[in-house]
Amino acid sequence: MAMVKDQLFGKTMRKSYAKYQEILEMPNLLKIQKDSYQWFLNEGLQEVFRDVGTITDFSGKLELSFLDFTMKDAPKYTVEECVEGLRAKIRSMNDAMGIPNTLKDFGILEDEFKAASDNLYLMTDDGSYGEHGFVTVKLQQLLESGRQYDEVLAIGPIPMMKFVSKTTEPFGVKTIVSLNPIMVDGTGMCGGCRVTVGGETKFACVDGPDFDGHQVDYAELMSRNGVYRDREAQVAKEHVCRMEAMGKALI
Ligand code: FES
Repeated sequence: MAMVKDQLFGKTMRKSYAKYQEILEMPNLLKIQKDSYQWFLNEGLQEVFRDVGTITDFSGKLELSFLDFTMKDAPKYTVEECVEGLRAKIRSMNDAMGIPNTLKDFGILEDEFKAASDNLYLMTDDGSYGEHGFVTVKLQQLLESGRQYDEVLAIGPIPMMKFVSKTTEPFGVKTIVSLNPIMVDGTGMCGGCRVTVGGETKFACVDGPDFDGHQVDYAELMSRNGVYRDREAQVAKEHVCRMEAMGKALI
């Protein structure tokens, strides 16, 4: 027959049906959890931000540092106020954007770009949406009209970044390009993403991917990026997507 004993758990007296005497007192699991969460709020969160360290942009003009924090029930600013504050800081920025075919084909974030820009210029190669022409056409017009830019940021196909840089160079406008060479290990060890910038060898995965667009050796970059072109074309023809087949079989 089971021996029933009174046993104190924390402040509560309970009945114990255990055959053996408790050797260790049961820890207060709730307290452990609450203490751990409190530590995370007071210290852990700061450690994460400090580990990431100060983030600087390529030009060295912008810097994001963690200084201090306070915890409040309600956030100090709404998301909309934060976006508006940021917009006020980058008021001089205007966007020109190019889309090869039609906007519908790509579903690019038009509304989001509109919300974040003072001016949004949509350009399509075939004129099927927005204005007809490359982004460089619009950029040239804006620069010639006397529009002042602190910096131009180009992200996209290499030829586009090359010609954006060529367009801004005579106007002396700083231009940042975000390069996308072939990457393998992403740690600076394989050399796959090697680019030449200002006559120096750089690795886009660790030194970039943002570089001074006026200093990049685009001919070398395009040649290196084309090294698998034949193989890619062949694979694109021959490849049979097993996932697609499985998906079709399921429908
Ligand atoms: S991806 Fe290997 S060095 Fe950059």
